[in-house]
Amino acid sequence: MALERTLSIIKPDAVAKNAIGAIVGRFEAAGLKVVAAKLKQLSRKEAEGFYAVHKERPFFGALVEFMISGPVFIQALEGEGAIQKNRDLMGATDPKKADKGTIRADFAESIDANAVHGSDSAENAAIEIAYFFATTEVVSA
Ligand code: TYD
Repeated sequence: MALERTLSIIKPDAVAKNAIGAIVGRFEAAGLKVVAAKLKQLSRKEAEGFYAVHKERPFFGALVEFMISGPVFIQALEGEGAIQKNRDLMGATDPKKADKGTIRADFAESIDANAVHGSDSAENAAIEIAYFFATTEVVSA
């Protein structure tokens, strides 16, 4: 398996629940290393740009409102197979369908307030990390 980087966002619902440490702990326990991190209040423009692929979807407006409803904790994670590993730790988009023990099963309330974002491909991981971090802000593990 290749050494990869992926973008993780701990969303406003999980930050509001004081769950940053608990969620980061799961990444670390699974062998992922935090190679960049920041707590940030997203602007509407930043949230719209980040989720631009979804702009024609019916939930886009609500998703943007939710993502700017409070600060988010954004990280680049590095590890063997980091992209799929993070997706496995997150669980399904809808927490009702997420496997037991996944982050969304344990911390998310609903499909629209679902605790975490994780890149879904190597191509998107590179784009998403560059969206939030300058190359000098990402430290090699
Ligand atoms: P998506 O990329 O399909 O899911 P994932 O976050 O698991 O990669 O959707 C992006 C976000 O859009 C999702 O985390 C929450 C929101 N969303 C809704 O609010 N309603 C929906 O029906 C879907 C599919 C997504």
